[in-house]
Amino acid sequence: MTVDDNAITTPDPYVEDLKKEIIRLKEEKGAVILAHFYQKGEIQDVADYIGDSLALAQIAEKIEEPVIVLCGVHFMGETAKILCPDKTVLIPDAEAGCSLADSCEAEAFRKFVEAHPDHTVISYVNTSAAVKALTDVVVTSSNARDIVETFDKDAKLIFGPDRNLGGYINSITGRNMLLWDGACHVHEQFSLEKIVELKKQYPEAKLLVHPECKRPVVLIADKVGSTAALLNYAKSSDARQFIVATESGILHQMKKECPDKEFIAAPPMDSTCGCNDCNFMKLNTLEKLRNCLRDGKPEIHVDPAVAERARRPIERMLELSK
Ligand code: 13P
Ligand code: SF4
Repeated sequence: MTVDDNAITTPDPYVEDLKKEIIRLKEEKGAVILAHFYQKGEIQDVADYIGDSLALAQIAEKIEEPVIVLCGVHFMGETAKILCPDKTVLIPDAEAGCSLADSCEAEAFRKFVEAHPDHTVISYVNTSAAVKALTDVVVTSSNARDIVETFDKDAKLIFGPDRNLGGYINSITGRNMLLWDGACHVHEQFSLEKIVELKKQYPEAKLLVHPECKRPVVLIADKVGSTAALLNYAKSSDARQFIVATESGILHQMKKECPDKEFIAAPPMDSTCGCNDCNFMKLNTLEKLRNCLRDGKPEIHVDPAVAERARRPIERMLELSK
């Protein structure tokens, strides 16, 4: 039997038993479970902490237990390992990568940086440790605007790897950062035409958009923000309906925290493809989480020399986000 989907349904005895086993193993091994909002609903439900990528890094830094299980994608596990080198950091599926991080190969990025030696390098957290090691300051979608605004208007800045987030930050800060040409395959799929159609069906609905989406979708949003910012907007808004243009996992927490509101997943270009699910995020399952707690693997390792260089720009971000 496989365990699937984000829906809140009647309890399944198999799933409930797995959850109990996970909680038992977690206590036995001295582990803490961190989950990103894009994880399957049942993983979010057993996590000790759920958050966006900034919150996961901030929480990881403060954890006292010896083992962190990062239910998210590989770069999130690497960030936790870089911040907590003495801890064991596990991930349920070692293949859970990120197309955006993969769109920025470290050697090519190094050449780009070397071609602009007078530029400060700002990297989105969705990057490998090797790319972070070439970076001056890391940002996430929740702090990118504030961190970019700490630099003078005419400062020479490189922003990588997400051209959509970088372009959005340029547009709202009046900066002219040089952009790396990368993108996320999930967020690039949201279709302006289909969202406009959906707005006709739900004229009162507010449109929530992650800044990794393309500019035309961002331009018609009521709220642009990180996963946590979109969730907070939904919680505090008087609106009853929301169209959500980001990975579908966030709907689980939105429905849980706002049971009297309606959340509609924005359709991708091809409505039959299910591509508003991140196939990497969804590689993690309850069974794999149980197995990784039981077996102590897969474990995240980062080359200590790379980790040493990558730690500085992450710590600078955390310092600027206090
Ligand atoms: P957040 O930083 O908003 O959690 O986003 C992470 C991510 O991978 C977006 O695709
Ligand atoms: Fe990476 Fe996109 Fe998946 Fe986020 S949704 S983890 S940016 S591939």
